[in-house]
This record gives sequence, structure tokens and C-alpha cells, in this order.
Amino acid sequence: MSRQNKCGGFLGGWARGAVRMKQMIDDLLIFTRTRLGDLLPVGFTAQNMGRICSDAVDEVRASYPDARIDLRLDGDLRGRWDGGRIGQLIVNLLTNAVRYGSGQIVVEASARDGWVMVAVANEGNPIPERGLPTLFDPLTRATMPDRRGMAAGIGLGLYICRCIASAHQGTISVVSSAAGPRFTVAIPALPSSPA
Ligand SMILES: Nc1ncnc2c1ncn2[C@@H]1O[C@H](COP(=O)(O)OP(=O)(O)OP(=O)(O)O)[C@@H](O)[C@H]1O
Ligand SMILES: [Mg+2]
Repeated sequence: MSRQNKCGGFLGGWARGAVRMKQMIDDLLIFTRTRLGDLLPVGFTAQNMGRICSDAVDEVRASYPDARIDLRLDGDLRGRWDGGRIGQLIVNLLTNAVRYGSGQIVVEASARDGWVMVAVANEGNPIPERGLPTLFDPLTRATMPDRRGMAAGIGLGLYICRCIASAHQGTISVVSSAAGPRFTVAIPALPSSPA
């Protein structure tokens, strides 16, 4: 292995660690606040879901350079959302797709009837049926972690995704077929502003 590769590998690992650490802290902060009865604070500004998805894909690619992520955008993807939170949601879904899936990952954003949908699908093993009913609950895992020697997650990512979707008056759901899981987020393009 060349010196440059060694350095790149080190930086990749360092960047991945830093991104995961930031993600965990962000997720823990939200978890603590929502457990204390607070609503997730959100601020809506003009956003473009295409831009949010593309930034999220770039962030995950920077940490996982080998990930194969295809981004497909369709329709008018403008809306008023909390861009940082929606970015966090998509990064959480993508990080799961990289960690638990294998092969190709596809992110699709589309718009219809005043709603914007983002789907994140990955190849790999389906999520075991028994894990589906509690998948979005905090501190739960559907499979044994660590099959690639990665540190185990804390089981908050999908709970946070659900909190963020709800704070935008939207939903998140999963369908897990033999081809692998597909998560779909649906949010109104113009959710009413928080009180
Ligand atoms: N794309 C996926 N493919 C297969 N299993 C998944 C996928 N996404 C999530 N899971 C399963 O759902 C569980 C819960 O995911 P979640 O993101 O909430 O927590 P985590 O990844 O374990 O930890 P954290 O996100 O807090 O680091 C995972 O542990 C895994 O078992
Ligand atoms: Mg996760």
C-alpha cells in the first residue's frame, strides 16, 4: 500500500469517526429533549430537497468512499423545511444503508400533490419481520450489530428520523422485501409553521 493510500485510509477512518460521533451526539441531544417532553425545535426556511439530498450523499460519501450511492431527482423539489434536520434524517438513513446493507444504494426524491417524498433503498438482507413493528422506537436494533467490525449503534437513528418527519407533519415508513429494505419519507412541501 502506498504512503498516500495509507494517509487516505487514515483520513477516511478519522473523518468517518468524526461524522459518526457528531451524528451520535446530535441524535442523543434530540432524544434527551423529546424524552423530557419537548417538541423537536424546527425552523422552516426555503429549501430544495434536491440540494439537501445531494449534500447528504456527499457527506456520507466523504466518510464511506466505497459506498455506491445513486441519486435520482424528479419534479419540483422546493419547499419550506428545517434543512439541517432533514439533512440529518437523510444522513441517518444513508449511514444505515451503508452499515447494514451491501451493494447499491439508491436515493430518490420526487414531488406530487403538494408532498415531497424521499426514498432510500439498499441491497442486502431484508430486515427481519419481527424487528419491523418496533424499528422506529428508540434504543432498538433489528439485527446483531458489528458484522463488519464496526462499533454498534445506539439504536436512535430511526427514532430521530421519525421525530424529524413528525415535526414536519410527515411520515416515515419501511418496506423490506427480499431485495432489501426501502425507507420512504413523505412530508408536505409547505408544513404549517410550529407554534
Ligand atoms: N438499511 C438497513 N438495512 C438493514 N437493517 C437496518 C437498516 N436500517 C436500520 N436497520 C436495523 O434497524 C436498527 C435500528 O436502526 P437505528 O438507525 O435506529 O439504530 P442503529 O443504527 O443501531 O444506531 P444509531 O443509528 O443510533 O447509531 C439497526 O440496528 C438495524 O438492525
Ligand atoms: Mg442508525
